[in-house]
Amino acid sequence: MEMRAPKGSFDIYPDAKERWQDTVYWHHAENVFRHLASVYNFKEIRTPMFEHLELFQKGVGEGSDIVSKEMYNFLDKGGRELALRPEGTAGVIRAYVENRLYTSSKSSKLYYIAPMFRYERQQSGRYRQFHQFGAESIGLSSPLADVEIIELAWTLYKKLGLQNLQLFINCVGDHESRKAYTQALKDFLDPKFNELSSDSKIRYQKNMLRILDSKDLADQKLLEGCPNILEFLDDNRRAHFETVLKKLDELGIKYQVDPKLVRGLDYYDSTVFEIIAMKDHERGLTIGGGGRYDGLIESYSGPKTPAVGFGTGVERIIQTLIEQEANISLSTPLVAYIIPLEESQHQLAYILAHTLRSHDIACDVDLTGRKLKASLPYASSQGAEFALILGEDEMKDGKIKIKNLVTRQEENVDKNSVINFLSKNKS
Ligand code: HAM
Repeated sequence: MEMRAPKGSFDIYPDAKERWQDTVYWHHAENVFRHLASVYNFKEIRTPMFEHLELFQKGVGEGSDIVSKEMYNFLDKGGRELALRPEGTAGVIRAYVENRLYTSSKSSKLYYIAPMFRYERQQSGRYRQFHQFGAESIGLSSPLADVEIIELAWTLYKKLGLQNLQLFINCVGDHESRKAYTQALKDFLDPKFNELSSDSKIRYQKNMLRILDSKDLADQKLLEGCPNILEFLDDNRRAHFETVLKKLDELGIKYQVDPKLVRGLDYYDSTVFEIIAMKDHERGLTIGGGGRYDGLIESYSGPKTPAVGFGTGVERIIQTLIEQEANISLSTPLVAYIIPLEESQHQLAYILAHTLRSHDIACDVDLTGRKLKASLPYASSQGAEFALILGEDEMKDGKIKIKNLVTRQEENVDKNSVINFLSKNKS
């Protein structure tokens, strides 16, 4: 039997055949996100990979595609109904309530880097196990908190080197205004029901607003001239949304208001946004999205607490970086590659490696017995800056030949001065 990773999952490993699966890209993206999150004073939270199914049914919504079609749910041996998390927000909010984080501070700014699971149809940029960077700002109702989240996402993409991104933004309103809007949309679509795509017919029954999201061209045509959700907002939300847009203008973050943007998760009740990679002015992959969800914490039996956040797909970030040929420096930390030319020098090579490593100088030893002609290119391919060549001739008077693999210059350095030499010369 041929053993393969389950459909929709993949490995991340060094020198991967598919470049986006190469660990170096993942480290690069993770480092940038971690650093930026701390610059914005977000602290890391880690929650379980599985939760009670009910958490997602209640939060993300039973009528959503994620919960109704894409969940990995199962009964454990104790008969509990559990689910692999399809997204990060529900678990973070559950942890916030369970650990009573609200008692220690008025606001909590939390971030995560974590795998998520959705049983989705396989297509480009869609996986069944994928990874998200996410950030949740809990406790602030100010529109500035929305702006901070959007700014964090936007800055992340800029720092990573992504280009041609477009921010789409909307306000979906609270339960009441959404109910009124849903009715208006229903009235508008009623006479056109038979012409809707089969998917939209199902959404018409289960989750009307999601019809707005239909990719079907005929559906999009039918939606032309449909009621605008922004006209159904109450005064507070309208003012909130206007302030968000004004502050984005002030920060120079360009956006497009898209009244048809509703997102696929039911917990949003105000600002929503998505960031999309544009291809020849057409919408390509959605890189990230988020919004405000002021009612979720209360629905999990926590105190009434406003919150806003975003999540972004790491696979999509890396694939887009590669596709856009972004100029990223993926430096490997390897400083030295030690090449003993004869087996009699293996022991010495290993002791040298031990000494370098104890001084925090990253190095490796070639114990394969291959010829120098082959080991030098290998050392370069590993990103080493220097090759340390140990051979009978080279070692006669206690010296080691050090070759700079970038400049090709060679120097014989006293055995006892190697650490000094490398510390001084490494970039
Ligand atoms: P979401 O839009 O469902 O939002 O997912 C966020 C991002 O995860 C998407 O924009 C996409 O980049 C990535 N993603 C989603 N599904 C897949 C998949 N099957 N394969 C690869 N990437 C995928 C949320 O999950 C919300 N929790 C975001 C949020 C946080 N809202 C408030 N706080």
